[in-house]
Amino acid sequence: MGKIRVAVVGVGNCCSALVQGVYAYKNLGETVGLMHEVFGGYTLADIEFVAAFDIDARKVGRDLSEAIFVEPNCYDKVYDVPKIGVTVRMGEVKDGVGEYISEHVRISEEKPVDVAEELKEAGAEIVVNLVPTGGVEASRWYAEQSLEAGCAFINATPTEIAVSGEWASRFQLASLPLVGDDLMDQAGATVLHKALLEFLVKRGVRVEETYQLDIGGGLEALNTLQKDRGDFKRRVKTVAVKASLPYDAPVVAGTTDYVSFMRNSRASYFWVKGSYFNGAPIKIDIFLNTVDAPNAAGILVDVIRGVKVAMDRGMGGVITPLCAYGFKRPPTPVKLADAERLIAEFLENRLKP
Ligand SMILES: NC(=O)c1ccc[n+]([C@@H]2O[C@H](COP(=O)([O-])OP(=O)(O)OC[C@H]3O[C@@H](n4cnc5c(N)ncnc54)[C@H](O)[C@@H]3O)[C@@H](O)[C@H]2O)c1
Repeated sequence: MGKIRVAVVGVGNCCSALVQGVYAYKNLGETVGLMHEVFGGYTLADIEFVAAFDIDARKVGRDLSEAIFVEPNCYDKVYDVPKIGVTVRMGEVKDGVGEYISEHVRISEEKPVDVAEELKEAGAEIVVNLVPTGGVEASRWYAEQSLEAGCAFINATPTEIAVSGEWASRFQLASLPLVGDDLMDQAGATVLHKALLEFLVKRGVRVEETYQLDIGGGLEALNTLQKDRGDFKRRVKTVAVKASLPYDAPVVAGTTDYVSFMRNSRASYFWVKGSYFNGAPIKIDIFLNTVDAPNAAGILVDVIRGVKVAMDRGMGGVITPLCAYGFKRPPTPVKLADAERLIAEFLENRLKP
Protein backbone atom coordinates (compact mmCIF):
# COMPACT_ATOMS: atom_id res chain seq x y z
CA MET A 1 0.00 0.00 0.00
CA GLY A 2 1.26 3.51 -0.77
CA LYS A 3 1.91 6.41 1.56
CA ILE A 4 -0.83 8.92 2.38
CA ARG A 5 0.32 12.43 1.49
CA VAL A 6 -1.45 14.89 3.76
CA ALA A 7 -1.58 18.70 3.81
CA VAL A 8 -2.83 20.49 6.92
CA VAL A 9 -4.55 23.87 6.99
CA GLY A 10 -4.46 25.49 10.45
CA VAL A 11 -1.45 24.50 12.55
CA GLY A 12 -3.32 24.80 15.86
CA ASN A 13 -3.90 22.40 18.72
CA CYS A 14 -5.62 19.65 16.69
CA CYS A 15 -2.81 19.73 14.14
CA SER A 16 -0.28 19.49 16.97
CA ALA A 17 -1.96 16.39 18.41
CA LEU A 18 -2.26 14.85 14.94
CA VAL A 19 1.39 15.38 14.00
CA GLN A 20 2.70 14.31 17.42
CA GLY A 21 0.46 11.24 17.42
CA VAL A 22 1.43 10.10 13.95
CA TYR A 23 5.16 10.37 14.76
CA ALA A 24 4.84 8.88 18.23
CA TYR A 25 2.80 5.84 17.15
CA LYS A 26 5.04 5.38 14.10
CA ASN A 27 8.32 5.56 16.01
CA LEU A 28 7.37 3.89 19.28
CA GLY A 29 5.36 1.04 17.78
CA GLU A 30 2.67 1.69 20.40
CA THR A 31 -1.02 0.89 19.76
CA VAL A 32 -2.71 1.87 23.03
CA GLY A 33 -5.22 4.67 22.47
CA LEU A 34 -5.89 3.92 18.80
CA MET A 35 -9.39 3.05 17.61
CA HIS A 36 -7.82 1.00 14.81
CA GLU A 37 -4.22 -0.07 14.49
CA VAL A 38 -4.94 -0.90 10.85
CA PHE A 39 -7.74 0.91 9.02
CA GLY A 40 -8.53 -0.09 5.44
CA GLY A 41 -5.10 -1.73 5.24
CA TYR A 42 -3.18 1.37 6.37
CA THR A 43 -1.32 2.04 9.62
CA LEU A 44 -0.33 5.42 11.05
CA ALA A 45 3.17 4.85 9.65
CA ASP A 46 1.65 5.35 6.20
CA ILE A 47 0.63 8.95 6.95
CA GLU A 48 3.09 11.61 5.73
CA PHE A 49 2.77 15.38 6.12
CA VAL A 50 3.78 17.10 2.90
CA ALA A 51 2.41 20.66 3.24
CA ALA A 52 1.08 22.99 5.95
CA PHE A 53 -0.60 26.41 5.95
CA ASP A 54 -1.34 28.93 8.69
CA ILE A 55 -1.54 32.71 9.04
CA ASP A 56 0.15 33.30 12.42
CA ALA A 57 3.55 34.99 12.24
CA ARG A 58 4.91 32.64 14.91
CA LYS A 59 4.10 29.57 12.79
CA VAL A 60 4.58 30.71 9.17
CA GLY A 61 8.14 30.03 7.95
CA ARG A 62 8.86 27.36 10.58
CA ASP A 63 9.21 23.64 10.14
CA LEU A 64 5.91 21.93 10.97
CA SER A 65 7.65 20.01 13.78
CA GLU A 66 8.38 23.33 15.55
CA ALA A 67 5.29 25.32 14.56
CA ILE A 68 2.99 22.89 16.39
CA PHE A 69 4.57 23.86 19.72
CA VAL A 70 4.47 27.65 19.51
CA GLU A 71 1.92 29.89 21.16
CA PRO A 72 -0.99 30.31 21.19
CA ASN A 73 -1.09 26.48 20.85
CA CYS A 74 -1.53 25.00 24.30
CA TYR A 75 -1.70 21.24 23.75
CA ASP A 76 1.24 19.68 25.61
CA LYS A 77 4.36 18.29 24.03
CA VAL A 78 3.90 14.53 24.37
CA TYR A 79 6.42 13.60 21.68
CA ASP A 80 9.49 15.39 20.39
CA VAL A 81 8.77 15.36 16.65
CA PRO A 82 11.91 15.24 14.49
CA LYS A 83 12.35 17.83 11.75
CA ILE A 84 9.78 17.06 9.05
CA GLY A 85 11.16 19.23 6.25
CA VAL A 86 7.77 20.89 5.65
CA THR A 87 7.72 24.67 6.11
CA VAL A 88 4.43 26.22 7.20
CA ARG A 89 3.32 28.56 4.41
CA MET A 90 1.21 31.70 4.61
CA GLY A 91 -2.41 31.03 3.70
CA GLU A 92 -5.31 33.44 3.07
CA VAL A 93 -6.72 34.92 6.30
CA LYS A 94 -10.29 35.54 5.05
CA ASP A 95 -12.57 35.20 8.12
CA GLY A 96 -10.33 32.67 9.91
CA VAL A 97 -9.61 34.94 12.86
CA GLY A 98 -12.73 35.81 14.84
CA GLU A 99 -13.16 38.87 17.04
CA TYR A 100 -12.64 37.07 20.36
CA ILE A 101 -9.38 35.36 19.37
CA SER A 102 -7.94 38.23 17.35
CA GLU A 103 -5.79 39.52 20.23
CA HIS A 104 -4.19 36.05 20.60
CA VAL A 105 -3.33 35.61 16.92
CA ARG A 106 -0.53 37.58 15.23
CA ILE A 107 -1.31 37.72 11.55
CA SER A 108 1.85 37.30 9.50
CA GLU A 109 2.83 40.10 7.14
CA GLU A 110 4.08 37.59 4.57
CA LYS A 111 2.35 37.50 1.21
CA PRO A 112 -0.06 34.55 0.93
CA VAL A 113 1.29 31.74 -1.22
CA ASP A 114 -0.58 30.14 -4.12
CA VAL A 115 -2.03 27.30 -2.05
CA ALA A 116 -3.23 25.17 -4.99
CA GLU A 117 0.21 25.43 -6.59
CA GLU A 118 1.94 24.51 -3.29
CA LEU A 119 -0.35 21.50 -2.89
CA LYS A 120 0.49 20.32 -6.39
CA GLU A 121 4.22 20.83 -5.92
CA ALA A 122 4.13 18.95 -2.62
CA GLY A 123 2.22 16.07 -4.24
CA ALA A 124 -0.50 16.35 -1.57
CA GLU A 125 -3.43 13.94 -1.93
CA ILE A 126 -5.58 14.94 1.04
CA VAL A 127 -6.18 18.37 2.63
CA VAL A 128 -7.26 18.46 6.29
CA ASN A 129 -9.07 21.71 7.10
CA LEU A 130 -8.49 22.75 10.73
CA VAL A 131 -9.16 26.49 10.66
CA PRO A 132 -11.16 27.92 13.60
CA THR A 133 -14.94 27.59 13.88
CA GLY A 134 -16.64 30.40 11.95
CA GLY A 135 -13.93 30.52 9.29
CA VAL A 136 -16.60 30.00 6.65
CA GLU A 137 -15.03 31.92 3.78
CA ALA A 138 -11.62 30.54 4.72
CA SER A 139 -12.86 26.94 4.73
CA ARG A 140 -14.60 27.38 1.38
CA TRP A 141 -11.51 28.98 -0.07
CA TYR A 142 -9.31 26.02 1.01
CA ALA A 143 -11.90 23.58 -0.39
CA GLU A 144 -11.59 25.47 -3.69
CA GLN A 145 -7.78 25.19 -3.59
CA SER A 146 -8.12 21.48 -2.88
CA LEU A 147 -10.30 20.97 -5.93
CA GLU A 148 -7.92 22.97 -8.09
CA ALA A 149 -4.96 20.90 -6.90
CA GLY A 150 -6.79 17.57 -7.29
CA CYS A 151 -6.87 16.79 -3.54
CA ALA A 152 -9.51 15.14 -1.39
CA PHE A 153 -10.89 17.41 1.36
CA ILE A 154 -11.51 16.61 5.03
CA ASN A 155 -13.54 19.36 6.68
CA ALA A 156 -12.95 19.05 10.42
CA THR A 157 -14.66 22.39 11.04
CA PRO A 158 -18.41 23.07 11.41
CA THR A 159 -18.57 25.10 8.15
CA GLU A 160 -21.13 23.52 5.82
CA ILE A 161 -19.16 21.90 3.04
CA ALA A 162 -19.88 18.16 2.96
CA VAL A 163 -23.56 18.85 3.78
CA SER A 164 -23.78 21.29 0.87
CA GLY A 165 -25.06 19.64 -2.28
CA GLU A 166 -23.10 22.08 -4.41
CA TRP A 167 -19.70 21.15 -2.95
CA ALA A 168 -20.63 17.48 -2.97
CA SER A 169 -21.35 17.54 -6.70
CA ARG A 170 -18.22 19.52 -7.49
CA PHE A 171 -16.05 16.96 -5.69
CA GLN A 172 -18.05 14.16 -7.33
CA LEU A 173 -17.41 15.65 -10.77
CA ALA A 174 -13.70 15.89 -9.97
CA SER A 175 -13.71 12.26 -8.68
CA LEU A 176 -12.28 13.47 -5.36
CA PRO A 177 -13.53 12.41 -1.92
CA LEU A 178 -15.13 14.99 0.37
CA VAL A 179 -15.87 14.29 4.06
CA GLY A 180 -17.24 16.39 6.93
CA ASP A 181 -18.54 18.39 8.63
CA ASP A 182 -17.24 19.05 12.17
CA LEU A 183 -15.26 16.13 13.55
CA MET A 184 -16.87 13.96 16.18
CA ASP A 185 -14.22 13.31 18.84
CA GLN A 186 -12.81 9.86 19.57
CA ALA A 187 -14.16 9.88 23.15
CA GLY A 188 -15.69 13.34 23.53
CA ALA A 189 -18.94 14.79 24.76
CA THR A 190 -21.04 14.37 21.60
CA VAL A 191 -20.22 10.70 21.05
CA LEU A 192 -20.73 9.90 24.75
CA HIS A 193 -24.03 11.79 24.79
CA LYS A 194 -25.25 9.93 21.71
CA ALA A 195 -24.18 6.57 23.15
CA LEU A 196 -25.94 7.27 26.43
CA LEU A 197 -29.20 8.32 24.78
CA GLU A 198 -29.17 5.38 22.38
CA PHE A 199 -28.64 3.03 25.32
CA LEU A 200 -31.52 4.56 27.27
CA VAL A 201 -33.87 4.45 24.28
CA LYS A 202 -32.98 0.79 23.70
CA ARG A 203 -33.85 0.07 27.35
CA GLY A 204 -37.30 1.64 26.96
CA VAL A 205 -36.50 4.87 28.80
CA ARG A 206 -38.37 7.93 27.58
CA VAL A 207 -35.85 10.77 27.50
CA GLU A 208 -37.67 13.95 28.50
CA GLU A 209 -34.85 16.51 28.49
CA THR A 210 -31.08 16.51 28.24
CA TYR A 211 -28.15 18.85 28.02
CA GLN A 212 -24.40 18.67 27.53
CA LEU A 213 -22.55 21.88 28.34
CA ASP A 214 -18.83 22.36 28.41
CA ILE A 215 -16.02 24.67 29.41
CA GLY A 216 -12.65 24.65 27.68
CA GLY A 217 -9.34 26.46 27.74
CA GLY A 218 -8.10 26.26 24.13
CA LEU A 219 -8.54 29.18 21.72
CA GLU A 220 -11.42 27.29 20.11
CA ALA A 221 -13.39 27.53 23.37
CA LEU A 222 -12.81 31.29 23.41
CA ASN A 223 -13.65 31.54 19.71
CA THR A 224 -17.01 29.83 20.18
CA LEU A 225 -18.01 32.38 22.82
CA GLN A 226 -18.41 34.80 19.93
CA LYS A 227 -22.19 34.59 19.55
CA ASP A 228 -22.56 33.86 15.83
CA ARG A 229 -19.71 31.31 15.89
CA GLY A 230 -20.85 29.61 19.10
CA ASP A 231 -24.52 29.48 18.11
CA PHE A 232 -23.61 27.72 14.90
CA LYS A 233 -21.43 25.13 16.66
CA ARG A 234 -24.19 24.60 19.24
CA ARG A 235 -26.72 23.91 16.46
CA VAL A 236 -24.39 21.36 14.89
CA LYS A 237 -23.89 19.56 18.22
CA THR A 238 -27.61 19.63 19.00
CA VAL A 239 -28.58 18.15 15.63
CA ALA A 240 -25.96 15.40 16.16
CA VAL A 241 -27.35 14.50 19.58
CA LYS A 242 -31.00 14.72 18.46
CA ALA A 243 -30.28 12.15 15.74
CA SER A 244 -29.88 9.59 18.54
CA LEU A 245 -33.47 10.06 19.74
CA PRO A 246 -36.38 8.57 17.75
CA TYR A 247 -38.69 11.38 18.95
CA ASP A 248 -38.45 15.08 19.66
CA ALA A 249 -37.26 16.17 23.11
CA PRO A 250 -35.53 19.29 24.43
CA VAL A 251 -31.79 18.92 23.74
CA VAL A 252 -29.14 21.56 24.44
CA ALA A 253 -25.47 20.98 23.57
CA GLY A 254 -22.63 23.48 23.37
CA THR A 255 -19.69 25.33 24.86
CA THR A 256 -20.62 27.73 27.64
CA ASP A 257 -17.37 29.22 28.82
CA TYR A 258 -13.64 29.71 28.37
CA VAL A 259 -11.19 29.35 31.26
CA SER A 260 -7.66 30.05 30.05
CA PHE A 261 -5.85 28.10 32.79
CA MET A 262 -7.61 24.91 31.69
CA ARG A 263 -5.35 25.04 28.62
CA ASN A 264 -6.37 22.33 26.15
CA SER A 265 -8.63 20.44 28.54
CA ARG A 266 -12.42 20.41 28.49
CA ALA A 267 -14.93 19.85 31.26
CA SER A 268 -18.32 18.57 30.05
CA TYR A 269 -21.45 18.35 32.15
CA PHE A 270 -24.29 16.05 31.12
CA TRP A 271 -27.82 15.94 32.39
CA VAL A 272 -30.56 13.55 31.36
CA LYS A 273 -34.06 13.34 32.78
CA GLY A 274 -36.54 10.68 31.74
CA SER A 275 -38.93 7.98 32.86
CA TYR A 276 -39.19 4.21 32.56
CA PHE A 277 -41.50 1.39 33.78
CA ASN A 278 -44.63 2.69 35.50
CA GLY A 279 -43.42 6.21 34.83
CA ALA A 280 -40.59 5.87 37.37
CA PRO A 281 -38.20 8.84 37.13
CA ILE A 282 -34.56 8.50 36.09
CA LYS A 283 -31.98 11.29 36.35
CA ILE A 284 -28.37 11.11 35.18
CA ASP A 285 -25.70 13.64 36.03
CA ILE A 286 -22.24 13.02 34.49
CA PHE A 287 -18.99 14.94 34.49
CA LEU A 288 -16.47 14.23 31.75
CA ASN A 289 -12.96 15.62 31.66
CA THR A 290 -10.95 15.29 28.44
CA VAL A 291 -8.13 16.89 26.46
CA ASP A 292 -9.48 18.41 23.26
CA ALA A 293 -6.82 18.11 20.59
CA PRO A 294 -5.97 14.38 20.88
CA ASN A 295 -9.70 13.69 20.89
CA ALA A 296 -9.85 15.19 17.40
CA ALA A 297 -6.61 13.56 16.24
CA GLY A 298 -7.73 10.11 17.43
CA ILE A 299 -10.57 10.09 14.92
CA LEU A 300 -8.72 12.06 12.23
CA VAL A 301 -6.12 9.31 11.82
CA ASP A 302 -8.94 6.92 10.88
CA VAL A 303 -10.69 9.43 8.62
CA ILE A 304 -7.44 10.21 6.76
CA ARG A 305 -6.85 6.50 6.15
CA GLY A 306 -10.50 6.04 5.12
CA VAL A 307 -10.25 8.84 2.59
CA LYS A 308 -7.15 7.22 1.13
CA VAL A 309 -9.09 3.94 0.79
CA ALA A 310 -11.84 5.84 -1.05
CA MET A 311 -9.22 7.34 -3.38
CA ASP A 312 -7.70 3.90 -4.01
CA ARG A 313 -11.16 2.74 -5.06
CA GLY A 314 -11.66 5.74 -7.35
CA MET A 315 -14.56 7.09 -5.28
CA GLY A 316 -15.48 10.78 -5.51
CA GLY A 317 -17.98 13.12 -3.84
CA VAL A 318 -19.28 12.69 -0.30
CA ILE A 319 -18.11 9.43 1.26
CA THR A 320 -21.21 8.74 3.38
CA PRO A 321 -19.82 6.02 5.72
CA LEU A 322 -16.80 8.15 6.65
CA CYS A 323 -18.98 11.20 7.25
CA ALA A 324 -21.27 9.16 9.50
CA TYR A 325 -18.34 7.61 11.37
CA GLY A 326 -16.16 10.62 11.96
CA PHE A 327 -18.32 13.74 11.98
CA LYS A 328 -20.99 15.44 14.05
CA ARG A 329 -22.80 16.76 11.02
CA PRO A 330 -22.75 14.24 8.20
CA PRO A 331 -25.03 15.02 5.24
CA THR A 332 -27.58 12.66 6.82
CA PRO A 333 -27.66 12.64 10.65
CA VAL A 334 -27.30 9.07 11.97
CA LYS A 335 -27.33 7.00 15.12
CA LEU A 336 -23.97 5.61 16.28
CA ALA A 337 -25.12 2.06 15.58
CA ASP A 338 -25.87 2.95 11.94
CA ALA A 339 -22.52 4.73 11.60
CA GLU A 340 -20.73 1.61 12.87
CA ARG A 341 -22.58 -0.62 10.40
CA LEU A 342 -21.83 1.74 7.50
CA ILE A 343 -18.12 1.96 8.27
CA ALA A 344 -17.83 -1.82 8.63
CA GLU A 345 -19.48 -2.26 5.21
CA PHE A 346 -17.20 0.40 3.73
CA LEU A 347 -14.04 -1.22 5.10
CA GLU A 348 -15.15 -4.62 3.82
CA ASN A 349 -15.99 -3.01 0.47
CA ARG A 350 -19.53 -4.37 0.49
CA LEU A 351 -21.47 -1.10 0.28
CA LYS A 352 -24.28 -1.06 -2.24
CA PRO A 353 -23.84 1.71 -4.82
N1 LIG B 1 -11.57 18.09 19.67
C1 LIG B 1 -11.39 19.17 18.92
O1 LIG B 1 -10.50 19.96 19.21
C2 LIG B 1 -12.27 19.41 17.74
C3 LIG B 1 -13.40 18.61 17.53
C4 LIG B 1 -14.21 18.88 16.44
C5 LIG B 1 -13.90 19.90 15.55
N2 LIG B 1 -12.79 20.66 15.78
C6 LIG B 1 -12.52 21.77 14.85
O2 LIG B 1 -11.15 21.78 14.44
C7 LIG B 1 -10.79 23.12 14.12
C8 LIG B 1 -9.44 23.42 14.74
O3 LIG B 1 -9.50 23.38 16.15
P1 LIG B 1 -8.18 23.74 17.03
O4 LIG B 1 -8.54 23.48 18.43
O5 LIG B 1 -6.98 23.12 16.42
O6 LIG B 1 -8.13 25.33 16.81
P2 LIG B 1 -6.88 26.31 17.07
O7 LIG B 1 -7.47 27.64 17.32
O8 LIG B 1 -5.96 25.72 18.07
O9 LIG B 1 -6.12 26.31 15.66
C9 LIG B 1 -6.60 26.94 14.52
C10 LIG B 1 -5.39 27.31 13.64
O10 LIG B 1 -5.88 27.84 12.41
C11 LIG B 1 -5.07 28.97 12.07
N3 LIG B 1 -5.83 29.79 11.12
C12 LIG B 1 -6.78 30.75 11.36
N4 LIG B 1 -7.23 31.23 10.20
C13 LIG B 1 -6.57 30.60 9.21
C14 LIG B 1 -6.58 30.71 7.80
N5 LIG B 1 -7.42 31.54 7.19
N6 LIG B 1 -5.74 29.92 7.09
C15 LIG B 1 -4.89 29.05 7.71
N7 LIG B 1 -4.83 28.92 9.06
C16 LIG B 1 -5.66 29.68 9.79
C17 LIG B 1 -4.76 29.62 13.41
O11 LIG B 1 -3.65 30.49 13.33
C18 LIG B 1 -4.50 28.37 14.27
O12 LIG B 1 -3.15 27.98 14.16
C19 LIG B 1 -11.94 24.02 14.60
O13 LIG B 1 -12.73 24.42 13.53
C20 LIG B 1 -12.74 23.10 15.52
O14 LIG B 1 -14.13 23.41 15.54
C21 LIG B 1 -11.97 20.43 16.83
